[in-house]
Amino acid sequence: MEKANLDWSNLSFAYKDTDYNVRCYHRNGEWGELEVSSSNTINLHMAATALHYGQEAFEGMKAFMGKDGKIRIFRWEENARRLINSAKGIMMEPVPEELFKSAIIKAVQLNEKYVPPYGTGASLYIRPLLIGSGPRVGVKPADEYLFMVFVTPVGPYFKEGFNPVKIQIARDVDRAAPQGTGRYKVGGNYAASLGSGVRAHDEGFAACLYLDAKEKKYIDEAGPANFFGIKENTYVTPKSDSILPSITNKSLQQLAKDMGLKVEQRPVPVEELPTFDEVGACGTAAVISPVKEIQDRDTGDVYNYGDKPGTISTKLYHKLQAIQNGDEEDQHGWVLTI
Ligand SMILES: Cc1ncc(COP(=O)(O)O)c(C=O)c1O
Repeated sequence: MEKANLDWSNLSFAYKDTDYNVRCYHRNGEWGELEVSSSNTINLHMAATALHYGQEAFEGMKAFMGKDGKIRIFRWEENARRLINSAKGIMMEPVPEELFKSAIIKAVQLNEKYVPPYGTGASLYIRPLLIGSGPRVGVKPADEYLFMVFVTPVGPYFKEGFNPVKIQIARDVDRAAPQGTGRYKVGGNYAASLGSGVRAHDEGFAACLYLDAKEKKYIDEAGPANFFGIKENTYVTPKSDSILPSITNKSLQQLAKDMGLKVEQRPVPVEELPTFDEVGACGTAAVISPVKEIQDRDTGDVYNYGDKPGTISTKLYHKLQAIQNGDEEDQHGWVLTI
């Protein structure tokens, strides 16, 4: 298979066209055939509920090229289940796991020449997307849904790569309400976070660190990533109903246990920040972004964690990447080789 002519080692986390995407409609109570398209646009009714009432959910996952020339997709079942939860959370038709699986495999295989070569640090980002495509004027769920999957080759999410970043606590913005949609991967949460995210960037930070919306006492999550801290041989990560259950975080918790660390998933009060030896943001896009500094925009408090990635974060990062690339044995059955 001839590779696309791209500067693989210098890709950023940005959209690039590939050759094909796949689509499937749910109409009259059933899913249709998976269609292959070479167009990067969709024909959508102007009264589609996705456009008016935010009936939209998506996923983000990656495929990796191994040294052995095989393509590996990481923990697809988790993404499939999370999309089902998101769909149910905003009254959309859930995509069956098997349809999800065949759609992502097809989208990756059709665009094989865009899977970045082993050793470039880049990967093929997979973006499944489910939208309410049926027209409504009244506030009601649609009667038609469109499920699509496109892929795009990407480099690191934060321009810093695995170098530590600064993040900013902003108390004047809530990304999600305590009993709202924060635990679903739906567009509305991201719309709510755009203002504080752009402001954080403008003020020199990689992301905004959100606190719980009710009391502003506990850490929620860091922009498009979960938060973790490490101290006393323990991996600590927030338990909260308003954060996205990160698949990377879940994987790191398992790897931390495998390495002999204790794992605590519980409310993490802001006052605990000075006690961590290492702090990181984790997610599909960045795997781990070590955090060197947290600044509280409102209180002026500053927490420092050093300019170099911590030892445990570094071990976790390399371990997870080695499994994804196929360099280390996949003991937990996380990888689908296609
Ligand atoms: C809000 C939010 N939190 C956390 C994550 C990390 O989740 P995952 O590790 O499943 O990519 C993401 C990215 O998907 C996200 O958008």
